Amino acid sequence: MSDTQHPSHHDRTPGLVVAVDGTSGSGKSSTCRAVAGRLGLAYLDTGAMYRAMTWWMLEHGVDVHDPAAVALRSGEATVVSGTDPAAPTIHVDGTDVSGPIRGEAVTGAVSPVATVKEVRERMVALQRAIIAEKTSTGPGIVVEGRDIGTVVLPDADVKIFLTASAEERARRRNDQNVASGLPDDYEAVLADVKRRDHLDSTRPVSP
Ligand code: DC
Repeated sequence: MSDTQHPSHHDRTPGLVVAVDGTSGSGKSSTCRAVAGRLGLAYLDTGAMYRAMTWWMLEHGVDVHDPAAVALRSGEATVVSGTDPAAPTIHVDGTDVSGPIRGEAVTGAVSPVATVKEVRERMVALQRAIIAEKTSTGPGIVVEGRDIGTVVLPDADVKIFLTASAEERARRRNDQNVASGLPDDYEAVLADVKRRDHLDSTRPVSP
């Protein structure tokens, strides 16, 4: 087919875009970072951005279970993501939050924040700006998330959906918890994995 039949492709910048979606604990991050590193591409972890927004909400005393309150404050946080697959970084209002966003408080609160339409619109706009920059000035980017191939980049060159069973994902997450000094509690982790799957897959915006 000629380019005229693919205006969106024709208009796109030359860098390669790889969209990787899937469930939490499926191995997306390790896979995406390894692929980006091997191919010399940038890497964007969009889950970290929702986590960063959640960290800001908790830090400012916003009730994460009140969507109107979250929507109201969603424009205030400045989230800045690094794109080096060897050393991903994330800052909110200049503070490095790469540690705290992996903690229990943020992990337990991120699902309701990520369901808020205003939060998603803001994050998607930010993600598209980063992707546009990386594809116009470099060889391309691997983008990891839940709605990358469907909403953020429906036109991506490569789209992957990665998953694993709830039991396998819970086993990995529990191992990570134990390694970082948290209690060994597979059943509780499994219940949490299932709860988050349910919240993420039944939300009205980008389920
Ligand atoms: O992949 P993760 O566990 O870091 O994701 C954190 C949360 O953010 C999880 O509840 C799913 C949500 N998320 C999303 O809604 N859209 C994305 N593109 C990425 C993550």
